[in-house]
Amino acid sequence: MKFRLTALAAFAALLLPFNMFAADSVEAPVRHTFAIGTNDFLLDGARFQIRCGEIHAPRVPREYWRHRLQMAKAMGLNTVCAYLFWNMHEPHPGEFNWTGQADAAEFCRIAQEEGLWVILRPGPYSCAEWEMGGFPWWLLKTEDIKLRTRDPRYLDAARKYLKEVGRVLGPLQITKGGPILMVQVENEYGFYGKDAEYMGALRQTMLDSGFDVPLFACNPPYALKNGYRADLFPVVNFGSDPVAGFKALREILPQGPLMCGEFYPGWFDTWGAPHHLGNEQTYLGDLEYMLTTGASFSIYMVHGGTSFGLWSGADRPFKPDTSSYDYDAPISEAGWTTEKFFKTRDLFAKHLLPGETIPEPPAKNPVISIAPTEVTEGAPVFANLGTGFQPDSAETLTMEQFDQGYGCILYRTTLPAGPAVTLSAASVHDFGFVYLNGERLGVMDRRSGSFKLPLPERKKEMSLDILVEAMGRVNFGVEVHDRKGLHTPVKYSGAELDAWQVFKLPLDAAMLAGLHYAPAKLGSNGPAFWRTKFAVEKPGDTFLDLRTWGKGVVWVNGHCLGRYWNIGPTQTAYLPGPWLKEGENEIVILDLLGPEKPVIAGLEKPILDRLRPELDFAKSRRPKVTLKLDSASPVQAGTFEPGGAMQEVKITPPAKGRFFCLESLNAQDGKPFAAIAELELLDDSGKPLSHEGWTIAYVDSEERDKEDGTAENAIDGQTANFWHTQWGNAQPNHPHQLVINLGQTRTVGGFRYTPRQGDGPVGGRIKDYRIFVGDGLIEK
Ligand code: GLA
Repeated sequence: MKFRLTALAAFAALLLPFNMFAADSVEAPVRHTFAIGTNDFLLDGARFQIRCGEIHAPRVPREYWRHRLQMAKAMGLNTVCAYLFWNMHEPHPGEFNWTGQADAAEFCRIAQEEGLWVILRPGPYSCAEWEMGGFPWWLLKTEDIKLRTRDPRYLDAARKYLKEVGRVLGPLQITKGGPILMVQVENEYGFYGKDAEYMGALRQTMLDSGFDVPLFACNPPYALKNGYRADLFPVVNFGSDPVAGFKALREILPQGPLMCGEFYPGWFDTWGAPHHLGNEQTYLGDLEYMLTTGASFSIYMVHGGTSFGLWSGADRPFKPDTSSYDYDAPISEAGWTTEKFFKTRDLFAKHLLPGETIPEPPAKNPVISIAPTEVTEGAPVFANLGTGFQPDSAETLTMEQFDQGYGCILYRTTLPAGPAVTLSAASVHDFGFVYLNGERLGVMDRRSGSFKLPLPERKKEMSLDILVEAMGRVNFGVEVHDRKGLHTPVKYSGAELDAWQVFKLPLDAAMLAGLHYAPAKLGSNGPAFWRTKFAVEKPGDTFLDLRTWGKGVVWVNGHCLGRYWNIGPTQTAYLPGPWLKEGENEIVILDLLGPEKPVIAGLEKPILDRLRPELDFAKSRRPKVTLKLDSASPVQAGTFEPGGAMQEVKITPPAKGRFFCLESLNAQDGKPFAAIAELELLDDSGKPLSHEGWTIAYVDSEERDKEDGTAENAIDGQTANFWHTQWGNAQPNHPHQLVINLGQTRTVGGFRYTPRQGDGPVGGRIKDYRIFVGDGLIEK
């Protein structure tokens, strides 16, 4: 019998609990309820174990949203979790965008049609290896804005955005008949700050924006208490050791369902570091533990997809993320099933809730190859600069001050004749390609903090160009305040250079449309756009082979596929079939270094794991320095406890210095390796020191081939990755030293050491150690 909504029935419905309303209705929406009970999540009053996985709509071509959601459902998930990225939805202040790839409401509706519930994570801060963690760049036009605080200039903007989120997605809450069960406030805020009032202000904004489902906050285990408030339901994020994670959660949540808000099956990749693969055995073991103990979880990512366009972010202090966001997730970048997919599915099948079934996965989308095609036309950057302008003031030259968000920017000035001198900038975000009269002299490189370059003697005046390429803004930590371009002062021979002419190269559609192409000449190797047409018989997914190209950005038929870089590990760009046409297609490639061979082809499989460090324009991966421990005396020496728990050590009296060195003397397991998941430094009152300006000054050994054991992993705020001394091609023994440059002389009253995480025996956990703090520990 069909339920007809009469005025009387509507009135009666108001008096009944929603789950009783229209129970056998087809026409009227079925209303369900969701609540957080004493022991469990409750869906329509019954115990509901959330088996969730994360997918970001903008990282999947819209045409494939349904396919990927069907895949998630077919892996056995009952819920999908989605961040929103503020910068996609408000590209300019007050101008909102919810269309195309940004149509978040449609993504939620499809999820509902496919039988999935939704957990929404609208930010305002999201992280996610996404440009600036989801913040719009224009926030940085306000010079001293303090993001993620109660700074009214930030908070007012965040309120306007969240109000708009409420307008668009509020109607899709379960309370209104939609799929959205819960909504997250902020993201891992406890890692960033401690201000519960800030979290309260955002929570209130969510309520004012019309959200009436449970609101929650997520944090890694060691940050759960920072900014904690009883009116935000807490969940914990971890990639291993659920026992320890939930133990930490229980300290602030004595009662109530346990949930892992982000459970990592793999990890993201950064340029120049090995491709990450998760440990399948511990992944499955930890999932099984959660399934059997009744915990809920969200697999981050169940399907990572691709950070198309210029949307990939950068890890801290500065490790730009690859555009592939494959993540070694159970559903691959192109939406394929994997072994992990089927093993997860088998596991889930044993732990279904009453009434649940798992459908078969949908068919794989067609895959094609594209025959090698020569790229014949070129548009040199220097011949396509457009009109430049002279900045009003030479004090700040960052992109944001010139109203530019993304892309490249060129700074031009004239140098008089004179002797050889050094050119230096305060810093460059992120790469400054330096040219003298059109000849490339070298690169200023933010990765190593190399912002100085020798300029040769000049017999006559010469033109100096600094072409700055902005990678994605850092998406984590204080470094999100990542202003792009040249940071002043820029000096040569002691004098400040200030008569600049500036050219904006935003790499947007308007700029691409205005380029002037001519038959390309190979060998000039200057920065250039390359273009060609190629034929496709029948569109299908393919992977553009970029192995003969240098560094830049690639577009097909106007769709920006993302960034590429010959150093790897990603060597291909995912090109979704729906973005191809039968017949003629157009490819445009910006190459800042110049290709080895201007040829493109489409492969049937991605290449995600090929590092080619020999092609890096940085001659050495770290600045050459000498460690001076002989004349220094340790400010602290001790022995760490075995196990994976974070350990806090006081330094008394507090020590002063620009450099902090941790030296391992041996490991808990007696082996030659040292590893650190995270180092936090404390001031003399025991509060964490800001990471602002931190870099790795020195490390004696790091694994850079067999896995990503780079030293930055120890100060990036993520306990899921770690610094690890070399174990692949060599196995140097203790002592090992890791030295952090704090950017300025600081007082260090202690530190927190988080050992490498993991279940069972974990290598690299340090036993005896010494600490050095001082200004003279490193000599250049
Ligand atoms: C976190 C964030 C996520 C994401 C992962 C790493 O802890 O909350 O947004 O950045 O780490 O992929």
